[in-house]
Amino acid sequence: MAKRSHLLLLCQLTFILLIFSSSNAFKYNILSFGAKPDGRSDSTKSFIKAWQAACKSSSSATIYVPQGKFVLGLTKFNGPCKNNDIRFSIDGTLLAQSSKVGLGKLSQWIVFDNVQGVKIDGGTFDGRGKAVWAYKTSTSCWGCSLGASSITFTNSKDIEITRLISMNSELYHIVILKCKDVKVAEVSVKAPWKSPNTDGIHVQMSTGVSITKTTIKTGDDCISIGPGTKNLMIEQVFCGPGHGISIGSLGKGEDEVEAVENVTVRNSMLTGTENGVRIKTWARPSNGYVKAITFENILMRDVNNPIIIDQNYCPHGKSCPDKSSGIKISQVMYKNIKGSSATPIAMKFECSESNPCSALTLQNIALTYQNHPSKSSCQHALGHISGSIVPPSCF
Ligand SMILES: *[C@@H]1O[C@H](CO)[C@@H](O)[C@H](O)[C@H]1NC(C)=O
Repeated sequence: MAKRSHLLLLCQLTFILLIFSSSNAFKYNILSFGAKPDGRSDSTKSFIKAWQAACKSSSSATIYVPQGKFVLGLTKFNGPCKNNDIRFSIDGTLLAQSSKVGLGKLSQWIVFDNVQGVKIDGGTFDGRGKAVWAYKTSTSCWGCSLGASSITFTNSKDIEITRLISMNSELYHIVILKCKDVKVAEVSVKAPWKSPNTDGIHVQMSTGVSITKTTIKTGDDCISIGPGTKNLMIEQVFCGPGHGISIGSLGKGEDEVEAVENVTVRNSMLTGTENGVRIKTWARPSNGYVKAITFENILMRDVNNPIIIDQNYCPHGKSCPDKSSGIKISQVMYKNIKGSSATPIAMKFECSESNPCSALTLQNIALTYQNHPSKSSCQHALGHISGSIVPPSCF
């Protein structure tokens, strides 16, 4: 009898040890919450239930999504949670519900709000944006925000988004808004070059974001950097087709303070894009600024506007503002930027008359057009150069 209870105790101890020795004490398989991997049934409620369980857990939790196709409508994962280590480990595909085009602005599909320490690892997110794109293309709604962004993080911190594929979003693929310390790595974004407003990754009002080893092929900006972005690192990003890597647009609304500061883009490549590295602001008064920006070690292949500052930004040419932009652009460094331009003017600085661009630096630039040196054009741009600069600087 004594032996037996010893054995029992040993078994119990082993069991307890097994539970606590794995790095995540609790694992929630989405199937056990009723999710159906059949590509038809709506699994929104099951995902929310699994999230609530993980969020209530006082220790680390993993939500596991196995292979299969899970249909989700608008899905909101809200915090705060009782732990700050919740991992979505995804092998399957998440499909957006077919959208009801024209029946209202959906604006978001999968949303995380007010969370800390959330990690999404793997998975395919398919926004099924075709119907929305067709609608936009056939109406004057091309630049409107109709449709849903696929993955949005707001008011969150310590976030990791790794190894996932985001495809065919109706609107932006990944949005990082009002967040702190976000790591995006080994992500792939895919949408047709003709799909409107399908920005790859949009960062706004956020600090400490890094985007590395990421490939983006889409119909709008690969990465768009909105107002309030600080300490952003972009490294080993492959962009194209798409509209390039853009700071802005800024200063659309009058008299707002819109600042972008300390952004680095390096060791990256742009292929067949409309722009390479771009800063764009509307020609309106504003108290905003853009400063401490570095573009370094960048390869351009057949890019329409490899280096561009456009302070008269007005993409659709309708009711454009005709003031002078109030956004002050300074301390922008372009270093080791090489490759080919698809238009004669590879370097264009169209700065504000009332707030000229200042302290621009060019160092070792080599951009050709049809195997010949390209050209540059300047308006209200002040700066200095070092090393060899082709096209010749127009400062
Ligand atoms: C600029 O941002 C980087 C992260 O990209 C950070 O490591 C660095 O400390 C920031 N510099 C300043 C002066 O804040």
